[in-house]
Amino acid sequence: MMPIKIIHTKDGSKSLFLPELNETYHSKFGAKTESEHVFIQAGYQYVTKQEIRILEIGFGTGLNVLLTYLAHLHDERKIYYESLEKYPLPADIIKEINEVDDEQMKQIFNLLHSVPWQEDVTLRERFVLYKNKVDLLDFESQKMFDLIYFDAFAPDKQPEMWTQEVFDKMYKYLSEGGVLVTYSAKGSVRRTMQAAGFTVERIPGPPGKREMLRAVKVACSK
Ligand SMILES: C[S@@+](CC[C@H](N)C(=O)[O-])C[C@H]1O[C@@H](n2cnc3c(N)ncnc32)[C@H](O)[C@@H]1O
Repeated sequence: MMPIKIIHTKDGSKSLFLPELNETYHSKFGAKTESEHVFIQAGYQYVTKQEIRILEIGFGTGLNVLLTYLAHLHDERKIYYESLEKYPLPADIIKEINEVDDEQMKQIFNLLHSVPWQEDVTLRERFVLYKNKVDLLDFESQKMFDLIYFDAFAPDKQPEMWTQEVFDKMYKYLSEGGVLVTYSAKGSVRRTMQAAGFTVERIPGPPGKREMLRAVKVACSK
């Protein structure tokens, strides 16, 4: 694992910085605010299905699982959430990032980090988490998904995660009408998604970012 540093973002939530990549795990303008905006509001709340299979690219600090869990406290939907991660974080970093005042968040955070990898685990009624320790580039599945949280490191830092092959794969594993959301609004990313068959819209981004992308697998578009 590369050296890693805890950082404090503008909304008070913590994130991580990887000096070797010169890359943070979240926006410096607010880790929690960004994840809520991009993945929960533009993704989870946008999909209206009663049963949602979510695929996340990469698990990282578990913030997106945590926020989805919190959103799920207010609805009756059935969630299957598979989160891929090539580089699980070391225990000391997880412990430090979870030193927060909010007791509820702390408990949920501990729960999702304590459950094993490569196993379906019921976190709460109607919410199953499968943490998959795998490289996205090697990922294969028998399952189809309704919503993809595409939260890889930025395209200029990790270009191999933003290729046509990867978006072809994402397209393949999405059900018809399925949605992929990402914080990136880059023109080249949008065009690569379109080449993979997605219908892509630019929508307002979180603080510090004018736009983000939401891609939909429109029925029979490929
Ligand atoms: C921008 S961070 C976001 C992580 C997470 N969603 C969070 O909120 O903390 C990108 C994540 O993708 C993971 N990752 C990098 N390369 C990967 C790969 N080839 N396959 C799967 N995950 C990868 C990183 O280790 C990191 O956890």
